[in-house]
Amino acid sequence: MDAILKLAAEEVQKVAQNIDEGLRRRTIDKLRELQYALETPEETMQRLMYASLTTASIRVGLDLNIFNKLVDSDRPLKLTELVQATNTDPLLLGRVLRHQASLGVIHEVTQDTFTDSQTTRNISNTDIQAGLKFSADVLDPAYAATASFLAARSYKNPTDLYDTPFNTAWNTKLPLWDWLAEHPEHRVHFNRFMYAQRSSVKDCFSILNLSKEAKQWPAEKPLFVDVGGGTGQQCIAMRERWPELKGRVVLQDLPSVVNEVQLPEGIDVMAYDFFTKQPVTGAKYYYLRAIMHDHADDKCLEILKNVADAMSEESTILLDEIVVPDSNVEWYVTQTDLAMMVQFSSTERTEGQWRKLLSNAGLKIKSITTYTHSFRLSIIAATK
Ligand SMILES: C[S@@+](CC[C@H](N)C(=O)[O-])C[C@H]1O[C@@H](n2cnc3c(N)ncnc32)[C@H](O)[C@@H]1O
Repeated sequence: MDAILKLAAEEVQKVAQNIDEGLRRRTIDKLRELQYALETPEETMQRLMYASLTTASIRVGLDLNIFNKLVDSDRPLKLTELVQATNTDPLLLGRVLRHQASLGVIHEVTQDTFTDSQTTRNISNTDIQAGLKFSADVLDPAYAATASFLAARSYKNPTDLYDTPFNTAWNTKLPLWDWLAEHPEHRVHFNRFMYAQRSSVKDCFSILNLSKEAKQWPAEKPLFVDVGGGTGQQCIAMRERWPELKGRVVLQDLPSVVNEVQLPEGIDVMAYDFFTKQPVTGAKYYYLRAIMHDHADDKCLEILKNVADAMSEESTILLDEIVVPDSNVEWYVTQTDLAMMVQFSSTERTEGQWRKLLSNAGLKIKSITTYTHSFRLSIIAATK
């Protein structure tokens, strides 16, 4: 039986190397379905009830830099070596490592000797680690508060930015962005997390034809304004992809975010609150990635109207967002949707919801193009 399972696993891995993103995702989901189909009720309970303990255990591993130590080593490491490198109690570290090995986070070669697994390698990247830290430190308490939060509000869909499970868990009246401005240790993790999320899928620029559309764009006019662009990840990617395009590229975000960034030449950095009048007028493109999903419709309308007021006849607004399918929605879309609710009382949107929102903002949708299977990432292009 073991030999058959090994063979099956090798075959699946071989096939997975040569398939497209959609099929690879469906393979993962099928394997998961198979795993769950084999579980007893007690096993299902055990898996679900200990999910947050796994996150906690991984957080310990990140604090001690265990994963990078295993990845960087050219041989398996003994518990005693890891104890020495981390200055920890051997009894405690052994328990934590055995837990992670039992889940495949790391691999136990022989008794008390560990090496990396695919998961260890996946989580050894600094940006991925920032996402895990942000989630464990800031979001997990909010997720834990969600059930009682919703019950206390009679299960009404939350829409108030100032009343979220995040606010309850952290006992704050501040929305997450204002709270992050006061918590630089978490803000740093969030900003790096923005580099990690979507890092393994196609970028929207692969489907946009800016080189053709903006070929004649004059150097003195703004070309690309990234509204709420974080620390400039998309401005950099855009400039690198089309170095020949003329016109200013502008990164806009809150002062607490942009004051920390240093970007390559050719990108202007501007502190700007998108609930106020847009100071850059008549740009060819106004690009907003993962901004709308942070806000309920009333706030989205304010943001969109500020962009629309600054747009000329030649301008296009590009929303880089999830478009939720009407049915059979994948878990990576549904979990982002609920995470938005927990953090901001906001939501991911279906095509119908996008059409209604943009029409209410006085914008005309020119196209909606979904460019990844994971997350259903899409570009919604609209004009005045
Ligand atoms: C989900 S992140 C997306 C960041 C970036 N667009 C990306 O996709 O990597 C939302 C961004 O909106 C910024 N933001 C939040 N409120 C803002 C406001 N009132 N004005 C400008 N930027 C804001 C945050 O600082 C954060 O960088």
